[in-house]
Amino acid sequence: MEKKIILSGIQPSGVPTLGNYIGALRNWKLLQSDDKFCYYCVANMHALTVRQDAQELRSRSMGMAALLIACGIDPKVSPLFIQSDVVQHAQLNWVLACNTYMGELNRMTQFKDKSAKHADNINAGLFTYPVLMAGDILLYQADLVPVGHDQKQHVELARNIAIRFNNAYGEIFKVPEPYIPKLGGRVMSLTDPEKKMSKSDANPNSYISILDDPAVITKKFKRAVTDSEGRIAYEEGRHGVNNLLSIYCAVTGMTMEDAVASFPEGSGYGLLKKTVADAVIAEIEPVQNEYKRILADRGELEAIVKRGAEQASEVAEKTIDLVYKKVGLR
Ligand code: TYM
Repeated sequence: MEKKIILSGIQPSGVPTLGNYIGALRNWKLLQSDDKFCYYCVANMHALTVRQDAQELRSRSMGMAALLIACGIDPKVSPLFIQSDVVQHAQLNWVLACNTYMGELNRMTQFKDKSAKHADNINAGLFTYPVLMAGDILLYQADLVPVGHDQKQHVELARNIAIRFNNAYGEIFKVPEPYIPKLGGRVMSLTDPEKKMSKSDANPNSYISILDDPAVITKKFKRAVTDSEGRIAYEEGRHGVNNLLSIYCAVTGMTMEDAVASFPEGSGYGLLKKTVADAVIAEIEPVQNEYKRILADRGELEAIVKRGAEQASEVAEKTIDLVYKKVGLR
């Protein structure tokens, strides 16, 4: 049986939030199974779209690799690597850029959001970033790309580039599909539940960092914005309560119906917040302990990402060879 190929990446820009965890990392772990082969990368080249301190970037990349292992990525089974250690990502990028239209990139909502946020540094990399991401995916002939909802548009672009390239040059790329959790694909800010939870938010109460202390997690949930209805139910327009319930379902694996029914009639938001906080703590406390253990052995971590890059390069090189021959570069 042919195994399904999974690929995903995360930028090493700060500690991941509960949004990253529920939207993506939790699925990265769950997708590792006998009928799949997973590649996971720390997308450090993507992080250059905003200014970075060199030393800090390298150290955060290694920290992110440690965190991914702590989240359940088994590097013996799934190659785990740092994007820039596999040169083929840069090599494919140019060819794909020459097969992507400005109009397509102009439609990317993340570019619009990010250029508004970094008005002093709207660089070309920020604009062409989805092409680099398409390359990450297409290099490994991925079938599925586990991401949160905010990356859906980028995965769709990767599909379009793959289809266009295949039409021009023959069946070269597998056409990938996004894999987004039904509940938790878009975890919202705790302080403004109509906005996405984001690690770059200026207000730390708006997000749960997966390295937050349990006491801090409890406090942040306690302060989470809800509404004045005082009823625990998942209903259209009740963004705050819906967000808390979705987080609860995502970390416990419960259905929404069961989650709502688990609260006795007449329960208030105090109980809801406490229950969700406890469930989140139970899920991420083991991750935090593992993280400390893994980070302590820097030599082993370096060896893991080196091996991951070697494994990834072998596969990526096959794609590059094919592509470069097809377009006349080899
Ligand atoms: P990044 O680093 O911003 O986020 C990593 C993953 O977390 C998901 N995510 C969320 N999911 C649910 N709710 C949220 N509030 C939330 N915030 C973030 C993101 O959707 C993402 O899946 N460009 C990518 C990294 C990347 C990549 C790739 C992904 C680079 N190459 C190839 C897939 C395939 C990014 O910036 O994700």
